[in-house]
Amino acid sequence: MNAQELEKTARSLVPEGKGILAADESFGTIGKRFDAVGIESSEESRRDYREMLFTTPGIGDYLAGVILFDETVRQKASDGRLLPEVLEEQGVIPGIKVDGGAKEMALSPGEKLTEGLDGLRERLEEYREMGARFAKWRAVITIGDGIPTQNCIDANAFVLARYAAACQEQEIVPIVEPEVLIDGDHSIEQCEEATEKTLHATFARIFEAGVDLKGLLLKPNMVITGKDAAEQAGVEEVARRTVETLLRSVPAAVPGIVFLSGGQSDKQATAHLNAMNKLYDNLPWELSFSYARALQDLPMKTWKGDAGNVEAAQQAFYHRLKMNGAARSGSYSE
Ligand code: 13P
Repeated sequence: MNAQELEKTARSLVPEGKGILAADESFGTIGKRFDAVGIESSEESRRDYREMLFTTPGIGDYLAGVILFDETVRQKASDGRLLPEVLEEQGVIPGIKVDGGAKEMALSPGEKLTEGLDGLRERLEEYREMGARFAKWRAVITIGDGIPTQNCIDANAFVLARYAAACQEQEIVPIVEPEVLIDGDHSIEQCEEATEKTLHATFARIFEAGVDLKGLLLKPNMVITGKDAAEQAGVEEVARRTVETLLRSVPAAVPGIVFLSGGQSDKQATAHLNAMNKLYDNLPWELSFSYARALQDLPMKTWKGDAGNVEAAQQAFYHRLKMNGAARSGSYSE
């Protein structure tokens, strides 16, 4: 493992004014998202959709990286270029989702454990050959009656640390994503407690695994009220609780924290990131974005699977990127 190379790649994913697009939806997830806007999911429609996003003129102004799915990394644009090459030509680093999905956790009702460690070394070797310089693994923590349990938090933390070690062995920067879900009617305090426990456990296992903190990125949820709760915390409270929780739990050696949007509206996700960067100066890490839904909702709805809508969809996509680029420095206003 070349620590300098890893750190360089990690830092190049969080430069000033830029973030990451997560376009790594599995077959099931993209199927659900397409279905909601009336697009049929097929190999071709998924290819066309991602080609539309990746060929948007100027995305390299606001995107440093894009996370791809296994199918996408092998697909070609209509002009014959591989989709990862299209990204490289836009000045964007291709990355890859390598987890096998969050599955019901045995003997832990209501909780999930992410699978996919078997054969991971070989898959990482292959993806590196194909140009991937970073990877993503998502763990899911659910808030509910009596959950999350420490058992579930620890099991996911252990697996995230094994994944991060496997990535660094192949000189691939791991994005470590422990997501405390927004689903439910819990309070922001409950989210804060679950997020802090999850981050502590994750970094403890990462330390034990010998993973280099300078060569990874953290992708956490924001500390936010459950989406079904009657009273929702405001933008400033979300920003402050999120940053304070991270300050208590994330080592300063980590170069960047790239949030997931997790079911927030696109404007909310931008406003929250903006507030954090506006309210706090001199944080130890870059605070950036690695959104899927908050960047894709409007472009997907606008595109609808129709080639005639490509330009309008690309404009919608570029606009969201620009707004989040501004949020990187706290200078966003819609
Ligand atoms: P959302 O921004 O839609 O939460 O997706 C981010 C992601 O990559 C989840 O793994």
